[in-house]
Amino acid sequence: MSGAETPGGAAGVDERVVLAGIPLRNAVLTASGTFGYGTEFAPFLDLTQIGGFVAKSLTLEPRFGNPPPRIAETPAGMLNAISIENVGVRAFLEEKLPALPEGVVVIASAFGTAPEVYAELVARVSAHPRIAGVEINASCPHVKAGGIEFGQDPKLLAELVRTVRAATQGPLLVKLSPNVTRIADMARVCEAEGADGITLINAVQAMEVDVERRRPVLSNILGGLSGPAIRPIALRMVWQAAQAVKIPICGVGGITDASDAVKFLLCGATAVQVGTTNYLDPGAAAAIARGIADYAQRHGFARVADLTGALDARRG
Ligand SMILES: Cc1cc2nc3c(=O)[nH]c(=O)nc-3n(C[C@H](O)[C@H](O)[C@H](O)COP(=O)(O)O)c2cc1C
Repeated sequence: MSGAETPGGAAGVDERVVLAGIPLRNAVLTASGTFGYGTEFAPFLDLTQIGGFVAKSLTLEPRFGNPPPRIAETPAGMLNAISIENVGVRAFLEEKLPALPEGVVVIASAFGTAPEVYAELVARVSAHPRIAGVEINASCPHVKAGGIEFGQDPKLLAELVRTVRAATQGPLLVKLSPNVTRIADMARVCEAEGADGITLINAVQAMEVDVERRRPVLSNILGGLSGPAIRPIALRMVWQAAQAVKIPICGVGGITDASDAVKFLLCGATAVQVGTTNYLDPGAAAAIARGIADYAQRHGFARVADLTGALDARRG
């Protein structure tokens, strides 16, 4: 399929990219936790016109999240402490996946409290023919056990990726936490343990205070900051990781339009994910994909894939 065959795509631009061995129609995915199980967004955009979507992080059993308040608006972003509320792996495979139209690229997201739990989840989801790949969430900033612990400790991260790698031969992405000092080290660990790609970043650990009530705004006290406020942090981390590893990177954090998305590609991302923006404009991801193709055409790139790492970072 060439870009010319993609409705709305810039004529002559090849929009296809390959992320962690997953062929994608274009470079735009939607981010886990911001796009439900896909069907919720079907009235707003044709799911086959985006590269794909990453489903809400799954646990082995259904899970309720934190009590409200668990989201709050912030300047240029939002705080959330949903805490991996999800239907569980069985309902996802048996009820959510069959409800999706054919041709939609689905990446499952797995969350656990121990490497063996992640591995069991990954083995179950990656065996399903509708699943194109799995992203492991090693970075949830507001769950007390699991997630971020793995994303912050290189030894735990290595054990996690090694254990999960042994559980699947399918495409495996590791979603890293921005809440670390040296993201390049964490990226190298993922590459060394056989991950096919890296997604970064998850939300930035944060909190907000209600001064009149002298209380934290979120019931969980801590939450994750997302939206445009974190984009420069995400860009910096994608850039640093891209300098450190050869495996592909999926960039996420504060993307609102095609220009934002192109920044991530130039800094070394192979594809991008749109998150918080889906709440403001549920059709944004498809428009962003078209805008990337337009950018490529205007700047003389025959393939969107050629934008990856095309930043001119010379001084002066
Ligand atoms: C309400 C909400 C729920 C989220 N749930 C998940 C999740 O279940 N798994 C995950 O890996 N990331 C989750 N995220 C993080 C996003 O996937 C993304 O990494 C982050 O929000 C940064 O991107 P953005 O600024 O475009 O939203 C969630 C984010 C939000 C706002």
